[in-house]
Amino acid sequence: MHFYVVTIFPPMFDALLSVGLVGQAARKGTIRVIPVSPRDFAVDKHGSVDDAPYGGGHGMVMRPGPITDALDWIDACEEKPPHRVLLTPQGAPFNQTTARRLAQHHAVSLVCGRYEGFDERIRSCVDEEISIGDYVMTGGEVAAMAVIEASSRLLPGVLGSIESTYDESHADGSLEYPQYTRPPEFRGMKVPDVLLSGDHKKISIWRKDQSAQRTAERRPDLFARLNARATKRGA
Ligand code: ADE
Repeated sequence: MHFYVVTIFPPMFDALLSVGLVGQAARKGTIRVIPVSPRDFAVDKHGSVDDAPYGGGHGMVMRPGPITDALDWIDACEEKPPHRVLLTPQGAPFNQTTARRLAQHHAVSLVCGRYEGFDERIRSCVDEEISIGDYVMTGGEVAAMAVIEASSRLLPGVLGSIESTYDESHADGSLEYPQYTRPPEFRGMKVPDVLLSGDHKKISIWRKDQSAQRTAERRPDLFARLNARATKRGA
């Protein structure tokens, strides 16, 4: 899968690609992350990509030209134009379902805004807008990295075993059960007996219970959605 990232800070992506499973996926060629700087598409000799807002106000606004030219250039690199995503706090909340959907695309262009904002007309040149949470960062780069992280680990061959994604939090709309490893007792805290019992049926029931309990306590919004789904199915 190819991730093109329209960013004025390409070096921000070096760390992402040098470590961990995403770095390994990049080295193996399962993913490619290609930062593209809008400065390379600026029309003046200073490579300026921003300008003062019409109507006045503080801060600078990213010009539409360098970004849309970068996107068009990216389209020409692929047989089929990549799916275009704009990272913005005004976008739809990013979640596991979106990560799964994006991972189906052969290529995605991720547009990172900077400065005080971007020209509204950029919005009409993308397929969707994504936010990674209700807070404002100085730019979309960290959001783009979250999208790359969450989507690429769902691709075949990126994780050790694809089963790792079956039980994890958000896989089925609930939070994952608690996990333990050795030692059996740590600072007075014991591993639950059931996990040491070797009874796989009991362990599976315990994990399901724990997962439901956790979801209800920590994410009542997810729990309500799970219950609504179960009621609809007649469970
Ligand atoms: N750019 C700045 N803040 C953002 C956010 N919360 N999500 C996506 N892009 C952003």
